[in-house]
Amino acid sequence: RKLEVVTIDGPSGVGKSTVSRLLASRLGYTYLDTGAMYRAVALACKRAGVDVRDEEPVARLLDTLDIQLLPPDEEDGDVRVLINGEELGLELRSPETGMLASTVSALRPVRDRLTRMQQEIGRQGKVVAEGRDTGTVVFPDAAWKFFLDASPEERARRRIGQLRARGVEVDEKEILEQIIQRDRDDRERPIAPLKPAPDAVVIDSSTMDAGKVVETMLAHIRRSV
Ligand code: C5P
Repeated sequence: RKLEVVTIDGPSGVGKSTVSRLLASRLGYTYLDTGAMYRAVALACKRAGVDVRDEEPVARLLDTLDIQLLPPDEEDGDVRVLINGEELGLELRSPETGMLASTVSALRPVRDRLTRMQQEIGRQGKVVAEGRDTGTVVFPDAAWKFFLDASPEERARRRIGQLRARGVEVDEKEILEQIIQRDRDDRERPIAPLKPAPDAVVIDSSTMDAGKVVETMLAHIRRSV
């Protein structure tokens, strides 16, 4: 029997968060932002002065971290993360933290710990999980899997809009370069690389708004319940 979980994977800036939140609220499911967990670990490393490339010190630090996910904020819809009881602020969402998260997420101990946490959260079902490996590694038994894609230019344009809406100053060229770099790292890493699960429905969102993508997903879900 399949797990009542929807997985939404794809590269950065493709609109996964918006779509996942909308879909979760349409289905009455819990929204699971797995990227926020990798970002939180990256920030914890930065604050502790631990190099995100260095497996052993990262693993040691990880053992001292109590990581908690709070439900999305009513106002901005962002998931909150607590590390050892302290709520991480806006820095969690910065492009720099995203780059650090991408580096630290390549380490085995980090992936093992966060994957287990995510599986625990999804065990009862009724979850919409978004990330890079939620359909391939975290929830291979998920009933519905989607892979969202769009051109790097379109994704950079959206990410810039999101950051500006949060009041963050952005350098457009830098954002595009970061997107291309982070995707390459995520796709090429040996453990849990970014790729569609064999049974995922691939949706190109380049010319669709979030509402249209959600409708497309709901149609697939309804067809296969
Ligand atoms: O989705 P978000 O931009 O918040 O993710 C930050 C980084 O965390 C990604 O670039 C990716 O390297 C990593 N990540 C991951 N597996 C996931 C979710 C995020 O490796 N399931």
